Amino acid sequence: MSTRSELRANRRRRAHSCWGHIVAAPLWPMHGANLGTLLRTCDAVGACLAVPRLPWVPEALAKGNTLRHRSCVHFTGDPLRWLARQRESGSRVVGVELAEGAIRLADLPAARAPTVAVLGHERTGIPDDAVELLDEAVEIPMVGHGTTLNVAVAGSLVLYKLSGLM
Ligand SMILES: C[S@@+](CC[C@H](N)C(=O)[O-])C[C@H]1O[C@@H](n2cnc3c(N)ncnc32)[C@H](O)[C@@H]1O
Repeated sequence: MSTRSELRANRRRRAHSCWGHIVAAPLWPMHGANLGTLLRTCDAVGACLAVPRLPWVPEALAKGNTLRHRSCVHFTGDPLRWLARQRESGSRVVGVELAEGAIRLADLPAARAPTVAVLGHERTGIPDDAVELLDEAVEIPMVGHGTTLNVAVAGSLVLYKLSGLM
């Protein structure tokens, strides 16, 4: 039977090498802790993180990068212009949102082409003008009393599904 440290070492040997194939994009972030959580998930699934360079963001990412090694982070500038550029360059832009016509997470296929997973503001969600730039939306079904999940939890579930790791 393998020890825990052997299991961890094996995991590293099989790590993804496809940085950049999937990009998590919390483009209207409010809480640094959520960026840190998303950065950890990005590392786990071999994705990159795209964030606007708000004054507090670099420090929040440095704090959140508890793995203490290089992570793949893109700074976006204006979120709408960045999203439009992603589409022009051929990325599929998937909004993680409770939106009209959204598909359910279970029906979201693993990403075979460059894919951006757009995450909304913690209070107000994805702005209407950005919804217009989405190729599709995916929602995570919920049966409890709450109406939404924490943005880092929602993003992590979608990143795992897009990566095909679960
Ligand atoms: C806390 S929610 C925003 C809630 C906001 N009051 C609203 O109604 O849009 C923050 C973000 O998490 C993601 N999110 C949370 N729960 C979700 C769900 N069940 N399905 C899809 N995305 C979800 C979305 O990206 C959303 O914009």
